[in-house]
Amino acid sequence: MDDSIKYLLDESRIPRHWYNLQADLPKALPPVLHPGTHKPVGPDDLAPLFPMELILQEVSTEREIEIPGPVRDVYRQWRPTPLYRARRLEKVLQTPARIYYKYEGVSPAGSHKPNTAVAQAYYNKAAGVKRLSTETGAGQWGSSLAFAGALFGLEVQVFMVRVSYDQKPYRRALMETYGARCTPSPSNETQSGRAILAQRADHPGSLGIAISEAVEIAAQRDDTKYALGSVLNHVLLHQTVIGQEAMAQMEMADDYPDVIVGCTGGGSNFAGIAFPYLGAQLRGGRKVDIVAVEPAACPSLTRGRYAYDFGDTGHLTPLTKMHTLGSTFTPPGFHAGGLRYHGMAPLVSHLKELHLIRARAYKQSAVFEAGVQFARAEGIVPAPEANHAVKGAIDEAIRCREEGRPRAILFNLCGHGHFDMQAYIDYFGGKLADLDYDEAELAMALAGLPSVRDAA
Ligand SMILES: Cc1ncc(COP(=O)(O)O)c(C=O)c1O
Repeated sequence: MDDSIKYLLDESRIPRHWYNLQADLPKALPPVLHPGTHKPVGPDDLAPLFPMELILQEVSTEREIEIPGPVRDVYRQWRPTPLYRARRLEKVLQTPARIYYKYEGVSPAGSHKPNTAVAQAYYNKAAGVKRLSTETGAGQWGSSLAFAGALFGLEVQVFMVRVSYDQKPYRRALMETYGARCTPSPSNETQSGRAILAQRADHPGSLGIAISEAVEIAAQRDDTKYALGSVLNHVLLHQTVIGQEAMAQMEMADDYPDVIVGCTGGGSNFAGIAFPYLGAQLRGGRKVDIVAVEPAACPSLTRGRYAYDFGDTGHLTPLTKMHTLGSTFTPPGFHAGGLRYHGMAPLVSHLKELHLIRARAYKQSAVFEAGVQFARAEGIVPAPEANHAVKGAIDEAIRCREEGRPRAILFNLCGHGHFDMQAYIDYFGGKLADLDYDEAELAMALAGLPSVRDAA
């Protein structure tokens, strides 16, 4: 049996609930703090930015949160997504490991991001919101929200990190095709953007800066709310459709993962695949080795500090406790634009502190080498972000070979790389440098962390 094997579920198996890990945590998350008072925020503090349903999901400890019918109806267009066994890759690697991957690249925007974009657009529309503002790194999130906005009749404005805007013109075209407005960030449209441009006119931008711009726009107008594509609890929650489906598909394969691997930018696709399994473990089920993979050039989980910090560079957001490189840190312009964020989801950070997950960091040339090896065996060209998970899974499979242990490895192939071919061209042309972050800048960014007497 040489071919990849595909495990498909029928539509009736689209999950009816999102799974909320907060119900099963052995220790509750540290509270979110008001940036001025450093006191825990309440739902009303967040109301200028998000509709109340999403705020309630953010703080909920209910294990299951029902997926509204109209959201499931949209999910039906591409969900359940396929799960494959990568037999050809196993053969290339000569590993006794069984490698499985869940493929989220079949969504209209090409990644896992519509799982939450559709839900967020639905709740905003239901609350009477007219316009959404957001940031995007690689453009996957921006195009997902643009798609969801088109479905629910919402205007969408996307601030796209300048370096990605220049690297990926087709992602911008996709957003515009869905009807969104895409502005390179830092921009002259906001105070936060103008302040950055005044310091450095050719600033490459960062997710932290683009978030400040989007938040500023949302805070100014009653008919506009802000949407975030990662990091927040409700975003991670919406992604749990991935892991729930994977559990049913692994059951079809008559297997259970020993290792789960996901890439982490803000933590949402990783949470999507891992949290349902972790929840089962915390409720007394089988223990799973869960690995988060991040870029060595933006290593929040492996090199960041676990501390209260702002989610954005302009300091407009509340303070959350997370692994952070400091909100003023600008990562170098490597190709996995979706992983260039200074912080990590509070939930994922909390799990790392509780030793329920582990983290690894890789340089981009090794990550692309893995992605090309995967593409040549399995035929799918992964997004640069997803290549981190591919690299993590391949390394686990090689370890199985070296130790003679036939383990089952499941990873999330969170998106395709069809709009990222310039990165592959650069890789083949030997132009993909292993960019290092600036140690002095990191030290400065960490020195600037807000001083908060720990409420945890
Ligand atoms: C394809 C892809 N994977 C991963 C990420 C990182 O986000 P997260 O860690 O929330 O999944 C992004 C972000 O833009 C992305 O576009």
